[in-house]
Amino acid sequence: MRNLTEANLTDAVVAKLATCPNPRLKQILTSIVRHAHAAVREVELTEAEWIEGIKFLTATGQKCDDKRQEFILLSDVLGVSMLMDAINHRKPTGATESTVLGPFYIEGAPDLPHGSDIAGKTPGEPTIVSGRVVTTDGKPIVGAVLDVWQTASNGLYSSQDPNQDLYNLRGRFRSDADGRYTFRTIKPVSYPVPTDGPVGDILRAMGRHPYRPAHIHFIVSAPGYEGVATHLFAEGDPYLESDAVFGVKDSLVVKFKPVAAGGSLEVQYDFGLKKVA
Ligand SMILES: [Fe+2]
Repeated sequence: MRNLTEANLTDAVVAKLATCPNPRLKQILTSIVRHAHAAVREVELTEAEWIEGIKFLTATGQKCDDKRQEFILLSDVLGVSMLMDAINHRKPTGATESTVLGPFYIEGAPDLPHGSDIAGKTPGEPTIVSGRVVTTDGKPIVGAVLDVWQTASNGLYSSQDPNQDLYNLRGRFRSDADGRYTFRTIKPVSYPVPTDGPVGDILRAMGRHPYRPAHIHFIVSAPGYEGVATHLFAEGDPYLESDAVFGVKDSLVVKFKPVAAGGSLEVQYDFGLKKVA
């Protein structure tokens, strides 16, 4: 293995994977090597461009800490997250569609009783969210967990905002004996993904805006069923057609309807879960 050339270097690297004991890792690395080499060959990457790329990835890693995940954000804005999501969650009729988890989920949100308000004193349009968790044929699922999180009216998640308590606008609810859930919150707002790091730089370099349409995040799970990480998007949002992370699906767009009395809004949505095969 000497005197490798443009023509045979890729095969030489792939051949080295012969000793990889994990077949799935071998398959993934073979594909990554082939595609990375193909990209370098296709654009005839210069040394200066390669260094730029290395600096970008280095900065992306350096921007990460226990609350900031710049690599997930990069995956999201390049559409990799939604592609992976589409491949991994081919849903039957009646199962709620999934969308990106995003970089702002934090574990450990408090378990809250039916009807609790996750907004506390956060200003915004009061909203009641309710519905059921059901099987793909519409039967109630009792005791499903709904892990919920969203932005405040300043467009920030609690994990981004030192002025919010860590678990502000976050909570875990359980479906009742009829599969029902209810909680109170405020209407979420459209917001820019963080643009103060390398992902912001690359969005600007591509001439793209960083906005996501307003949404509430959910992870809905129940024993014996496939959990779903998804959002409910607000109908009428100006960014539904140009979500920075490509996450919008028609079935996840909901009306925030004014309630006749009381001046608040209401959202109704039933989540469908598919049985584990
Ligand atoms: Fe979000």
